[in-house]
Amino acid sequence: MRKLVAATGWKMNIGSAETVRYAGFLKSRVAQLDVSAIDIFVLPPFTSLPAAAGAFGNTPVAIGGQNMHWEDSGGWTGEISAPMLVEAGCRYVELAHSERLQHFGETYELIRRKVDRAMSAGLTPVICLGETAQEKAAGRSDEVLAEQVLTSLAGQPDNRVPDTILAYEPRWAIGAAEAASPDYVAARHKALRNILRQHRGRDVAEHTRIIYGGSVTPENGHDIIGLDDVDGLFVGRAAWTPEGFARIIELVVKAAAKKLARTTAATT
Ligand code: 13P
Repeated sequence: MRKLVAATGWKMNIGSAETVRYAGFLKSRVAQLDVSAIDIFVLPPFTSLPAAAGAFGNTPVAIGGQNMHWEDSGGWTGEISAPMLVEAGCRYVELAHSERLQHFGETYELIRRKVDRAMSAGLTPVICLGETAQEKAAGRSDEVLAEQVLTSLAGQPDNRVPDTILAYEPRWAIGAAEAASPDYVAARHKALRNILRQHRGRDVAEHTRIIYGGSVTPENGHDIIGLDDVDGLFVGRAAWTPEGFARIIELVVKAAAKKLARTTAATT
């Protein structure tokens, strides 16, 4: 069974001092739960990573970067590399967030290089995938997802693919009023798993986690995380308070127990 994920990207929010307060609250809530069946991570802005590494040290909450460069070092003013993230205590790195694609001109060809570098450095890349509103309207969503995922993973051997996390984040649902509907999410996650199956085989498709992001809240998250092919929730605004993220974590913990019970029933 795939381990479920509860994650939040803080974007350009929550400085060091606030990180310490956030972590303090979250730690006390997480300590009251059995979170051993799920993976939890937060992606603070770079300058908050040292505070986050200290404050979340020895807790089940891991940390990661929101972006990185594809080289290890050199004349790349303003950039951060994979070894730097590792040194800062990161286990994860988010790549291809739609805000990076939209505002900073990143392409999936660049993402492919970043994925490769991240994995060589021992980071888990969280690779964002998603269609725009126009692509959706043109009925091209699955075609776009296939192109994005296959480009991002090009050159990676099959056995490394499950070490990535794919984040389906429809671009029109990020920072929006509502998440994509559960039916729509189910169809895209199923399509993504089929793409993996066709191109990378059944084993890879079964073991690679595909999480959903885009206007998730504690209210709508329950129906989304309950879907068969959804392996986690990736949350922005609703998890920028520790109370909000704690509620998301609770949902994911409950969903993990339900999915385990379903799997056990199906195999006995
Ligand atoms: P919102 O949850 O604020 O829509 O942001 C989602 C997101 O960008 C996750 O990466």
